[in-house]
Amino acid sequence: MTRKIVVTSALPYANGPIHIGHLVEYLQTDIWVRFQKLCGNSCLYFCADDTHGTPVMIRAKQEGITPEQLIERVRGEHLRDFTGFGIEFDNYYSTHSPENRQFSERIYQGAKDRGSIVKRGIEQAYCEEDRMWLPDRYIKGTCPKCQAPDQYGDSCDVCGAHYRPTELINPYSSLSGKTPVWKNSTHIFFRLSDYETQLRNLMDAGYVQPQVRNKMEEWFQAGLKDWDISRDGPYFGFAIPGETDKYFYVWLDAPIGYMASCKNYCDRNGLDFERVWNGGEYELYHFIGKDIMYFHALFWPATLLAAGYRTANKLFVHGFLTVNGQKMSKSKGTFITAETYLRHLDPEYLRYYYASKLAPGVDDLDLSFEDFVFKVNADLVGKFANLASRSVPMITKKLGGRVGRIDEAGRRLLAALQAAKDSIVADYESLNYSAAVRTIVALADECNQYVDNHKPWSTIDADPEGTRTVLTTVVNAVRYLTIYLKPILPGFAAKVETCLEVPPLTIADIATVFEDRPIRPFERLAERVDKDKVAVMVEESKEQSQPAASTPAVPEAAPVVPQLAEPLEPVCTIEDFSKVDLRIARIARAEAVEGADKLLKLELDLGALNKQVFAGIAKAYTPEQLVGRLVVCVANLQPRKMRFGVSDGMVLASGPGGKDVFLLAADSGAQPGQRVH
Ligand code: 2FM
Ligand code: ZN
Repeated sequence: MTRKIVVTSALPYANGPIHIGHLVEYLQTDIWVRFQKLCGNSCLYFCADDTHGTPVMIRAKQEGITPEQLIERVRGEHLRDFTGFGIEFDNYYSTHSPENRQFSERIYQGAKDRGSIVKRGIEQAYCEEDRMWLPDRYIKGTCPKCQAPDQYGDSCDVCGAHYRPTELINPYSSLSGKTPVWKNSTHIFFRLSDYETQLRNLMDAGYVQPQVRNKMEEWFQAGLKDWDISRDGPYFGFAIPGETDKYFYVWLDAPIGYMASCKNYCDRNGLDFERVWNGGEYELYHFIGKDIMYFHALFWPATLLAAGYRTANKLFVHGFLTVNGQKMSKSKGTFITAETYLRHLDPEYLRYYYASKLAPGVDDLDLSFEDFVFKVNADLVGKFANLASRSVPMITKKLGGRVGRIDEAGRRLLAALQAAKDSIVADYESLNYSAAVRTIVALADECNQYVDNHKPWSTIDADPEGTRTVLTTVVNAVRYLTIYLKPILPGFAAKVETCLEVPPLTIADIATVFEDRPIRPFERLAERVDKDKVAVMVEESKEQSQPAASTPAVPEAAPVVPQLAEPLEPVCTIEDFSKVDLRIARIARAEAVEGADKLLKLELDLGALNKQVFAGIAKAYTPEQLVGRLVVCVANLQPRKMRFGVSDGMVLASGPGGKDVFLLAADSGAQPGQRVH
């Protein structure tokens, strides 16, 4: 029986670019959706830009455009990036849409009718300079607990204390720098506790994974608090009906954007929205990150229940991305945007890498660049792509471009591939992609072993027909592996489908064999990844990073970890330092670098070897002054690819920079290559 399924990913904010952290979720979801389609299920994938709120309003103001212009531009950028990664939405909409306004009003009215809406006054910071209310994240000041300056209005990054913004010492607006005034204003609240029993029932029915359930239990124990769903103008959002200058808080209408995207799709495709969204016919799943669990496990279902809408079957919550074991960092160049990635690397590499690491839990996923390069080259290229490239071209070049029939030995190999279907399907279904990938890699190993045993390249001239039989088995193996990998590697699969001249492969094709057919010339399925390309991408991400902007690129309410300038921590131990290999070098050649007025290209003579180094000393020395000089150089620095070439070391200098750079000159008795202690 085929299933009907609606799937959503969290809606990205319309005030910033998509980055590799976001992509964990969109790739996880896209793989699941593609897997459902591979299985013949009808699966609709909806998303949208999350457009409302203070950050969008401020960003637009800073750019001198309207919020509408900003969100339209950003939506285009987001879609471009998603498309670049092969993420295929059935509809990518916007929360700033007529459908979303209508549903937001309807849900608000539903909650009102149920008596779940209450009003009360709250004290809030107001900036008289900018004439706007300041969300907590826009107020900074001195931490009331540890006296650290410049801390956010809700928590201190130095001592970790949480507090109210009114407790900050010397508060100021991070936008205008002015001291805010505290004013009273009436806000509208949604009484979450009215839905406690229903929410508990939802949890009992398996709405969340077990780890998430434990967290929810803590929240229930702490008591469900009223939720402030209004913001005073000026605010970019939907006006609350019946109120003056009050707007729905961005988080009220954001998840409603899932419905709006679905409704917009249904209207354009002749489907009945009520049946798709609200009838029992479609299963509904939301993919989200663990930072927005509270919104999706409590507020969102409660607001739906208030208005008589169905809730999702399940939330699929995932962890965060770390890069080389650490939080993404602009200064380290690991805060990589989708756009930058796509300029350097094939999107299928990241799809494969994330899939090879994704599991159903909420654990964080680490992108280790070393492991990334290794896995792509060893598995994707070395095992999958090579299996095809070492068999298919022989058929097209030497055997008339036709596969023949499979023999008994071939059937045994293929039976093993077919037998793995149920476990691979179960792993995809339960979001255990890493397990699915492990199984597929093990199957590819068997297939490569089969090729190694039969050595078709050595039999092709003497026994072309026997070799055709072997190669036919290999082509079938490639076909099965491609079916299994198709949700993860749609581009790879499309190339195989073209080569085999078959319609889009589905899981049902695992039951059939591919014999007595022509095939087309082969196109390479994946190229090796060069670790220098990764290094260049990281380097470029460093260059792109800006000093902390006045607008925090963070959402207003979800618990967030701001990107901070890194403190000067003592991270280098004496053991680390002793690893640095300092050597005397003689500058053998020095020349200017076109397009870089600070750089000189140096050739260093280290006795036994020469090194090319780019040094930022052109303002202080002319090339002529340098040739023949002895300098101290770091000889075991990892080579770094720069725009102008590879820099294979570093010369030591001191001084503030510019004209004032002083090379550490070596004693004239020193010999090139000699170690410096
Ligand atoms: O955390 C975020 O990035 C939000 N923009 C997610 C919203 S998801 C849904 F509720 F719309
Ligand atoms: Zn503090």
